[in-house]
Amino acid sequence: EIGRRLFAGPAEFYWATAKIDGLPPMQDMEIAFAGRSNVGKSSLVNALTGRNTLARTSNTPGRTQQLNFFRIGPEWGQFSLVDMPGYGFAAVGKEKVAAWTRLIQDYLRGRASLARVYVLIDSRHGVKQIDTNVLDGLDRAAVSYQVILTKADALKKSELEARIAAIRQSLLRRPAAFPQVLATSSRSGAGVEEVRAAVVQLMRE
Ligand code: GTP
Ligand code: MG
Repeated sequence: EIGRRLFAGPAEFYWATAKIDGLPPMQDMEIAFAGRSNVGKSSLVNALTGRNTLARTSNTPGRTQQLNFFRIGPEWGQFSLVDMPGYGFAAVGKEKVAAWTRLIQDYLRGRASLARVYVLIDSRHGVKQIDTNVLDGLDRAAVSYQVILTKADALKKSELEARIAAIRQSLLRRPAAFPQVLATSSRSGAGVEEVRAAVVQLMRE
């Protein structure tokens, strides 16, 4: 309920940059979505805001090519969602992937207004080496993050639960990780309200 109200206000795209020196001024609390290309970052931004075309999505990995900032404006204080390019693989060539990886690392490790990173992992694929590298970097930089399993609709309930349990266990030794693992489907809407509630909680801290 409260989560829905938080996201019921205006939501607008206001900034994009492919360069770390092109970030917007720090005003709002920022919540970033990171994950491998095609994991469903942009789709989750849309699901959270209930706006299907706010962030651009695609079947082809490499759709989001910049840090995209969306301002969410509930009555009791605005905040920003940051949709990021994917890391790992993409149909765009090695140089672009390297540039994005640099951009993502620089942003995640050096942004004072960044309140939480949601690291998205595809339920079907689980944690890959490149995800482990990103989690290691967040732990080293002491940037608070939480794992969200995406595309939960693609697994059986028992498979999903096993996946959640395994990841939860592996997060115990990670100092910057939030212990709870969320699972979402932007397609069915499952788990989306839980992410909204987590954001509400974060804003109250
Ligand atoms: P990049 O911007 O390329 O890094 O990708 P992204 O992480 O933003 O992924 P995006 O949201 O563009 O979604 C990639 C593909 O996954 C699209 O074809 C989506 O329709 C699909 N997808 C996203 N969320 C879900 C989901 O919850 N369930 C299923 N089955 N497919 C999904
Ligand atoms: Mg995207």
